[in-house]
Amino acid sequence: MQKPILILGACGQIGTELTVELRKKYGSECVIASDIREGNNDLVKSGPFELLDATSYGAIEDVVMHYEIDEVYLMAAMLSATAEKFPMRAWNLNMGSLFNILNLAREGKLSKVFWPSSIAVFGPNTPKEDTPQNTIMEPSTVYGISKQAGERWCEYYFKKFGVDVRSVRYPGLISWKTMPGGGTTDYAVEIYHEALKNGNYQCFLNEETKLPMMYMDDAIRATISLMESPAENLTIRSSYNLGSMSFTPSEVAKSIQKHIPDFSISYAPDFRQQIADSWPSSIDDTLARKDWGWQPNFNLDQTTVEMLENLKRD
Ligand SMILES: NC(=O)c1ccc[n+]([C@@H]2O[C@H](COP(=O)([O-])OP(=O)(O)OC[C@H]3O[C@@H](n4cnc5c(N)ncnc54)[C@H](O)[C@@H]3O)[C@@H](O)[C@H]2O)c1
Repeated sequence: MQKPILILGACGQIGTELTVELRKKYGSECVIASDIREGNNDLVKSGPFELLDATSYGAIEDVVMHYEIDEVYLMAAMLSATAEKFPMRAWNLNMGSLFNILNLAREGKLSKVFWPSSIAVFGPNTPKEDTPQNTIMEPSTVYGISKQAGERWCEYYFKKFGVDVRSVRYPGLISWKTMPGGGTTDYAVEIYHEALKNGNYQCFLNEETKLPMMYMDDAIRATISLMESPAENLTIRSSYNLGSMSFTPSEVAKSIQKHIPDFSISYAPDFRQQIADSWPSSIDDTLARKDWGWQPNFNLDQTTVEMLENLKRD
């Protein structure tokens, strides 16, 4: 029997779909969703929901004890573009919430923890193509610095205190159920909404900016699969590279034009261009494939079909 799971930041882009999938898999009562705000109605009504601040150790501890929580998925964070505007708030949220969860696990109150890292851990000196698991990192954004520090702390808590913490470096994620929350890859979601609504899109990155991306179904499957893997198979306790597809804004536009021939795109790069330029173009995820059998299912054209069909229906 699955013991109770707590999701922090459950109303965000990933948390919303993760909650639905975990409830489907383990039963609604077993999966306690929480966030600092109330998200969409389905999520709040489809099982237990708590208003919970991930930076408050005491508040999380109360919920963990009340529901006898065994595993936590920590999805609360401030993302790359927003973090550049509020550096200290981003640092306090991203690091404070992680320490709360790692410390609860260290005290034996949790047996397993999932915390997501990002391709933002890499920086301008990192090899751009097929970026290896272990390489030069030197992130140049507030968000990337917090994720790299987080990775180091995860590995430290695993080695020093035996905390069973698991992590992946998500690429940019594409989904239709929830809008993205202030990242540099948000254009790859907005473009589908605008294609259907207005037939055109002004992109905040230039046409040649190639970034690693992933369809949300693949990201959720990767997350749950890593959490279900036997601990002894895992050789990385900082965070696994996770790859799927890589594309530029002009390639997404071409993929959309296969279904909406009149769709047009223009480019007006803003401050997010500099962030994107510091990130890899593609990711070598050999270790995730070897250690826990990672295999993506969706390429760009399949993602386009999923996005357009679901958004049309929505
Ligand atoms: N979406 C992506 O493309 C992507 C890529 C790489 C990594 N990630 C990582 O995955 C995780 C989830 O990302 P997301 O895209 O779902 O983010 P999001 O911004 O969509 O959602 C974050 C959620 O956290 C909540 N939150 C904010 N402050 C909180 C607090 N103090 N207490 C509790 N909840 C709080 C927000 O209300 C929001 O619902 C983050 O760690 C993010 O860095 C996301």
